[in-house]
Amino acid sequence: MNHRTSWTANWNPETLSYRQEEQRLLARLNSDYGTWNEYHLRRRLLNALYGFSRYRERNLVEVQRWRGLPILESTMGYRKKLIQVEERIFRNEVLCKAIVSHATEFYGIEQKELDAHTKEAEKNNQVADKVSVSQALKQRPRLGREGIQEREDAFPCILGSLSTLYLDADSSKLVKVLLHGASLGRLGHEVASLGVTVPDIDMKPSSTLLVEGDFTVVFADQQNHYDVITTHFFIDKAQNLMSYFDTIHRLLKPGGKNVRGKEAEYGFNARALTKNVYKAQTWVARKKS
Ligand SMILES: C[S@@+](CC[C@H](N)C(=O)[O-])C[C@H]1O[C@@H](n2cnc3c(N)ncnc32)[C@H](O)[C@@H]1O
Repeated sequence: MNHRTSWTANWNPETLSYRQEEQRLLARLNSDYGTWNEYHLRRRLLNALYGFSRYRERNLVEVQRWRGLPILESTMGYRKKLIQVEERIFRNEVLCKAIVSHATEFYGIEQKELDAHTKEAEKNNQVADKVSVSQALKQRPRLGREGIQEREDAFPCILGSLSTLYLDADSSKLVKVLLHGASLGRLGHEVASLGVTVPDIDMKPSSTLLVEGDFTVVFADQQNHYDVITTHFFIDKAQNLMSYFDTIHRLLKPGGKNVRGKEAEYGFNARALTKNVYKAQTWVARKKS
């Protein structure tokens, strides 16, 4: 599934081109677009929805497996814990169903198409993705009140840097901000609301724009475009670090800033990776004017 997204946050929401982005996305979702294979956006979306639809079954199988490991009960008394896990799986299932229902409506996928995809996948013994669904569900608390602590540990450095950088900016001018690997977009909304210090802001979709796809590809036609590019827990995910830096450099306007927060610090000795930890650091790099 690996849903790759970027958000552009713009301090003048009037100028955002939602309809254009929606049309672009819907065109790529059309089964006639490009080659119909496992990488096609519609196939990936259908697989994601298949994963969410089968969330309960896939996870209950795992609970059953744990129940079958008597050592867990005899050494750790896990029976009670497994009952709690089961209850939470049922609660999460409600959210998964809501996600499927919203997504089918949003992307214009009919239930019969999803049913046919599911039937075909099961006929081919293709198991529904469990890991990506769990990872997506883990992002959910970051959006709301439950995520306040986590956000307060991380966001102030980035938001503070942005506020300082643009403190003296001419307020009539737009500041174009792009966030790569933005996940569910909470930071994007906070950037768009800079100056508003409410702990649980109401997320206004109109002030940010979600762009689906690999950021090294989807912004290929843009250059010298953004005042700021912000990344958070992102750069260290790169398969090709230099291509990420090249893309960021190309997209920034001359004099534009790259504000990066929380990156893994790797350490090597001659033989192996010796260190792999997140460091709470914020970096600001400036593209030469
Ligand atoms: C570690 S997560 C961080 C998510 C978010 N920034 C946060 O702090 O919670 C990295 C995210 O970057 C996305 N990602 C990785 N490579 C990407 C790329 N080339 N283009 C767009 N998104 C990418 C992944 O899908 C994932 O959602």
